[in-house]
Amino acid sequence: MSRVLAVVNQKGGVGKTTTAVNLSAALADLGLSVLLVDMDAQGNATTALGIERHSLEQCIYSALVAQISDDDRGPTLAHVSLDTGIHGLKLVPARMDLAAAELELASALAREMVLRRLLAPVRESFDFVLLDSPPSLSLLTVNCLTAADGILIPIQCEYYALEGLSQLLRVVRMVESSLNPSLSLQGVVLTMYDGRTRLSRDVANEVRRHMGAKTYRTPIPRNIRISEAPSHGLPVTRYDPESAGARAYRLLAKEVVQREEAWTGARA
Ligand SMILES: Nc1ncnc2c1ncn2[C@@H]1O[C@H](COP(=O)(O)OP(=O)(O)O)[C@@H](O)[C@H]1O
Ligand SMILES: [Mg+2]
Repeated sequence: MSRVLAVVNQKGGVGKTTTAVNLSAALADLGLSVLLVDMDAQGNATTALGIERHSLEQCIYSALVAQISDDDRGPTLAHVSLDTGIHGLKLVPARMDLAAAELELASALAREMVLRRLLAPVRESFDFVLLDSPPSLSLLTVNCLTAADGILIPIQCEYYALEGLSQLLRVVRMVESSLNPSLSLQGVVLTMYDGRTRLSRDVANEVRRHMGAKTYRTPIPRNIRISEAPSHGLPVTRYDPESAGARAYRLLAKEVVQREEAWTGARA
């Protein structure tokens, strides 16, 4: 089984990067081999895993540019991927220059397929490839959707939670019908859930009503350890393994694996 999952939501601050990093680490801790690709020029997933961005000579951008310009000697994903402190987890980092990729992609041939083509030779070496996408419906995000088998949508348990969701799902359907027929919505992750507040509970119910069984059973609680972990360059599962946040991401990882196995089994 090799599954490419894109973590997407065009809203910023909803927990995409946090989910991409901690879910990747929790999947690796289950003994799976995982590649996390940082597709956001802010590079938060990169720094969250303790990688100094200014010390990097190459990043995802170098590989995208080589793919766009058909440069056989340019770096591949294998060249730009790094080991992390987590056994089984590799990272393709992003530096600020990834911001320029949007322009380069705009004039590229089959511009929506660039990441998909980059992943093709490496994806089979991993059980899971996770893509952390930017907070927009840009070409980089469309590249994530075109490269993915499934998408995970983190939804923050806040007042405007469902705002923008129908727009996102429309783009997903467009990509599915024109570029990537095997794309599916794999699941919705409730993030920053605070069971003590009425608002969080209401939003969670609303999301469950709207998205049904697509919503993962495990909500990710609002947890201070989750927000502290990136400044230590560690996933929360290492920073504080017994915290509520670490426990939730471990449970979510198990749910994701079960759902992926059921999905691939049903299609086989
Ligand atoms: N479950 C959580 N508990 C507490 N803080 C969180 C949680 N999830 C995310 N955060 C914090 O919220 C902010 C936005 O999260 P992030 O994952 O960067 O969102 P996005 O990638 O969607 O922009 C970050 O400062 C992060 O540390
Ligand atoms: Mg992010």
